[in-house]
Amino acid sequence: MNSSIERVNQLKKEKNAIILAHYYVEDEIQAVADYVGDSFYLSKVATRAKADTLVLCGVAFMGESAKILNPEKTVLMPDAAADCPMAHMATAEKILAVRKQYPDAAVVCYINSTAELKAHADVCVTSSNALKIVKALPNKYIYFIPDMHLAHYIAAQVPEKKFIFNEGYCPIHQEITLKDLLKSKNEHPDARIAVHPECPAEVTQAADFVGSTSEIIAYVNSDEADAFIIGTEIGVFYELKTQNPDKTFYTINDHQICPDMKKLTLEKVIRVLETGTPAVEMTPEAIKAADLPLKRMLELSK
Ligand code: 13P
Ligand code: SF4
Repeated sequence: MNSSIERVNQLKKEKNAIILAHYYVEDEIQAVADYVGDSFYLSKVATRAKADTLVLCGVAFMGESAKILNPEKTVLMPDAAADCPMAHMATAEKILAVRKQYPDAAVVCYINSTAELKAHADVCVTSSNALKIVKALPNKYIYFIPDMHLAHYIAAQVPEKKFIFNEGYCPIHQEITLKDLLKSKNEHPDARIAVHPECPAEVTQAADFVGSTSEIIAYVNSDEADAFIIGTEIGVFYELKTQNPDKTFYTINDHQICPDMKKLTLEKVIRVLETGTPAVEMTPEAIKAADLPLKRMLELSK
């Protein structure tokens, strides 16, 4: 076995640690992780984890969510600088203004957000449970933050609700254009198209399937097609190819790469296990303020 992998396994035992990884991190990290999944799966695993230490291989909001759900555990992040730009694309001031204007509005906060934004929300959602949760809410008005594309994708499926939109977006999914999608389809006419709901509406509307990273993998696993055009971050190709060695996968453009997810390396995983730093540090007040919307998400998505 490769010496880095041996070292990770040895450290996991020594520190009573488990590794949780998102599908967007480098293949070598997904390969050593105990759990790999989408944001919803990772937050569920975090609530059941028995280990003393969780190594969260993903971006800052994922580490924060794991800490909020497990305040007594140590949550380590291999690179503290790995952050999701979209997580900052809403403001507490605007939330307060919307609440004033629409007292009945539910503030629905995509999990790709800072703990501060979560603390101002009524409920959190991920791309795999947003529709179910929005439908379950009694409120007619929904202020959906930060992602405008996910918000529009959900809003189109619940015409009975009135959405107030925010202008946040994922810079990687925003760049997946209809023009490139049609070009790729032209080159691979028999391929099915599966995209993430963070893509712009004209892209999701042209796709055969829209879903979270886990849902895209489940779709590909169950579909009889031999080839797929994938509209999400390239890291997901590792699991797609592992589970479907005989199928072929194409990207829509050549920059479906999240630079923050790619900051993580196996060496940084080893270092964080050896040193116990950087760890997610949050005050008890900050944890308490963001805990309810996340727990409500877990409850409403059952
Ligand atoms: P998933 O919840 O589908 O894993 O997506 C997370 C993410 O960051 C998408 O860009
Ligand atoms: Fe954030 Fe986009 Fe990276 Fe996901 S892919 S972590 S939404 S920047």
